[in-house]
Amino acid sequence: MEFLLLFFNMFNFRKMVKCEVQCNCTDVNIQIEGGHYNLTKGLETGSLLVYHCPESYYPHPHLIRLCQSNHRWTPAPKRFQPQKCRLVECPDPNVMENGNVSPPQEKYFVDNETTYECYSGYTLRGSSRRVCLPNGKWSGSTPICSRDSTDDCADPGIPAGASRAGNIFGIDDKVTYTCNGNLFLVGSSVRVCQENGQWTGKEPACYYRHTYDTSLEVSEAFGSAIKDSLTVSQPADDIQEGRSIRVSKNGTLNIYIAVDISESIEDEQIKSARDTVIKLIQKGGHHISARLQFPEFENSQQHFARTGDIASFTVSPNYEILFFSAEVFEVVNILDFKDGKIKPDSLKETLENFVIEDRKSGTDLNGVFKTFLERMAIIKEHTKEGFKEHRHVLIIFTDGAYNMGGSPAPTVAKIKNMVYMNHTGEEGAPSREEYLDIYVFAIGAEIFDDDLQPLALGTGGKHYFRMKDIEDLQDTFEEMIDEQDVKGLCGLHKDEKDQIPTRKKYPWWASISVQHTGASQKCLGSLVTPQFILTAAHCFPFGVLPEHITVDINDGQSKVKKVKKITLHPNYNVNAKVQQGIKEFYDYDVALLQLMEDVYISTSVRPICIPCTQETSDALKLEGKSTCRQQEERLFKTELERLNFLTKVDGSVKEKDVHAKLGSNRNECIMHAREAPGIAKENYMAAVTDNFLCTGGQSPYRDHIACKGDSGGAVFKNYELRTVQVALVSWGTKDMCKKGGGMIESDATSRDFHINLFRVVPFLKSVLANNTQDDFVPLQFLED
Ligand SMILES: *[C@@H]1O[C@H](CO)[C@@H](O)[C@H](O)[C@H]1NC(C)=O
Ligand SMILES: *[C@@H]1O[C@H](CO)[C@@H](O)[C@H](O)[C@H]1NC(C)=O
Ligand SMILES: *[C@@H]1O[C@H](CO)[C@@H](O)[C@H](O)[C@H]1NC(C)=O
Ligand SMILES: *[C@@H]1O[C@H](CO)[C@@H](O)[C@H](O)[C@H]1NC(C)=O
Ligand SMILES: *[C@@H]1O[C@H](CO)[C@@H](O)[C@H](O)[C@H]1NC(C)=O
Ligand SMILES: *[C@@H]1O[C@H](CO)[C@@H](O)[C@H](O)[C@H]1NC(C)=O
Repeated sequence: MEFLLLFFNMFNFRKMVKCEVQCNCTDVNIQIEGGHYNLTKGLETGSLLVYHCPESYYPHPHLIRLCQSNHRWTPAPKRFQPQKCRLVECPDPNVMENGNVSPPQEKYFVDNETTYECYSGYTLRGSSRRVCLPNGKWSGSTPICSRDSTDDCADPGIPAGASRAGNIFGIDDKVTYTCNGNLFLVGSSVRVCQENGQWTGKEPACYYRHTYDTSLEVSEAFGSAIKDSLTVSQPADDIQEGRSIRVSKNGTLNIYIAVDISESIEDEQIKSARDTVIKLIQKGGHHISARLQFPEFENSQQHFARTGDIASFTVSPNYEILFFSAEVFEVVNILDFKDGKIKPDSLKETLENFVIEDRKSGTDLNGVFKTFLERMAIIKEHTKEGFKEHRHVLIIFTDGAYNMGGSPAPTVAKIKNMVYMNHTGEEGAPSREEYLDIYVFAIGAEIFDDDLQPLALGTGGKHYFRMKDIEDLQDTFEEMIDEQDVKGLCGLHKDEKDQIPTRKKYPWWASISVQHTGASQKCLGSLVTPQFILTAAHCFPFGVLPEHITVDINDGQSKVKKVKKITLHPNYNVNAKVQQGIKEFYDYDVALLQLMEDVYISTSVRPICIPCTQETSDALKLEGKSTCRQQEERLFKTELERLNFLTKVDGSVKEKDVHAKLGSNRNECIMHAREAPGIAKENYMAAVTDNFLCTGGQSPYRDHIACKGDSGGAVFKNYELRTVQVALVSWGTKDMCKKGGGMIESDATSRDFHINLFRVVPFLKSVLANNTQDDFVPLQFLED
């Protein structure tokens, strides 16, 4: 026993002696003020130190440090330059020509707002208002002031933080961009005006090292690109919007995916990376064909047909999937698809079961491209002439910190040659550039943009994406493809099977704050079009102006939305029946708030369906020419209709259950209005007009009861995956809620009254279908 102990001690001792001086890097001066750091291998050689800051902040002066074999950090921590979390800045927007930027500032930080105006004689394209976002970019798009001219190409503008050389926009004229200060350029630094009126290359932007693309941006750009690849158009010769149709019907799509798992990417990201690839693959092919078979999406299909889009059908792609570090690990070999050895359905399982025991240090990015090139060569040999019809999409996830295998650039050149078959379109032969796309997802704390950017290639939109976290990318792929197609559909939401965030379940939900005469009031509301919020009129007492109101509906563009105009129902008059002993009369308690600008529609932010619109008929699957009455009948089938509304709980929302007492149940329900304070008992009928739905009580079901803060919120009913708002929360007979909120159940006599939207359609129509304005696209209502 003693022996053993001694031995153990000696072992420990030896180790200590050997390392005592400095076997590890030290933790002196590596702390970060306002944030934290993670080490991939403790303080040992080869460990990577990654700094993390809260949202809207970034680590400064360094993003990472590496423990070198001399046991020192690179870059070395300096006592006089302590590591801090700094507030994110956006590039200087004062580069716009022929217009004004206000306010003029030396520097612009997160949440700072700017507005853009053109000098007279010039018209504005792009955003007139932009907000500095936590990812170091301005919301919206580059504002450009231009004059009508005979130029062949439109003024390509100047992105924030950049300078442009070249002011003539005729055919073959060139513009050159550089980024100022410590910014670097993502996109094309040189663009040439082409005969078709388009500029070559991709729109440039200036990034800081801490600038990232949001998952929303990426899903939009990459989503539509990959959808283009996955849905093949009917063979046709016509050129659409300057873009020729891509692959013929019997073409083949090969997708090659490579994921960097070298130590330069943090450990837990590897599992995420695998899940991300699974998400990406699940979105490929299968989902689109599923959409075509899904009855609830029929309408969108019809819609496409009506708008004259070319019919599309899906391709089932072949996949090559690699993980790589110092060596390349093959997860799925594309050649197995050719032999039918692997089926698309089994990909998920293959990926999940794949384990890597021994990750050697080092990163061989070139090895990845060499593997892809070899696969292509074999496919070419097998298919001979058929290779012409093969499209290749390469998708690489890496931070670009390769340290072995050399630069991948020459291998990429060979891949280009093979796919282009030496036809780049320059010597008369048709261009084959559409047959090859390389998407680079640059992910990591420190990204080697200079090495990675030149690898991205392909026609159309953005091919280079810069992301902080692979988890963001999962969201990206989740939102991709199927969601893009159904963007405009009201009331579409995710169902509750998965643990989905409440914003996706109730994407129309909005919170309204009113600050007036020193008091603050909160209401709920619902997004009914990209620019309008429906809520209760009583949220805006006399004297409240648009500038007193903010709407919280986080669409990733700005935290709160400002209001341009309040429209109350013209018949709303809280004092109308004071004479009859009704102190406060809430008939027509409905209002519409017009926002300063459209919200950004996504899976988390989308309008709810409202009565008597064409979209709602589509949602309810009413075919042909439908009526309001048909909608009402489909939604209110019984005399006791289960409905829901939301209540705010800890910054999020929960769903309350109620039952509308209709038909023969109504009288008993509204009778309890007699017990409401401020209503003369004998005249209660005058307080409860036909415009109200009545809920509450305990029989036959115990309903929830509305609280003050629930006012203006949507009372809704789901119809499959669509939500229709049938009423809005107005008033109740008893205040049973403490502190104005919570999931409170009704007692026997408490009742709530909700404005029935079917009774205020003329008002909704007058505002939302207004066609004497240019601010928004009028909503299409039914004729009757
Ligand atoms: C980093 O460390 C913090 C604790 O300091 C921990 O909560 C977090 O999960 C770690 N993150 C990663 C990516 O390892
Ligand atoms: C070196 O680092 C490792 C891992 O952080 C730690 O377990 C070990 O005790 C360190 N050695 C010395 C001598 O500090
Ligand atoms: C811009 O942001 C900074 C930092 O949050 C803030 O101090 C400043 O007041 C803002 N400027 C304006 C005009 O909002
Ligand atoms: C399909 O491929 C064959 C040869 O692979 C070719 O002869 C034929 O023209 C192709 N069909 C279409 C519609 O492109
Ligand atoms: C493309 O050109 C290279 C040399 O310029 C040649 O070796 C190769 O065979 C050509 N490939 C095709 C498909 O014509
Ligand atoms: C319709 O739009 C015009 C022009 O903006 C506006 O004056 C009018 O008040 C609007 N009507 C309603 C009912 O909002």
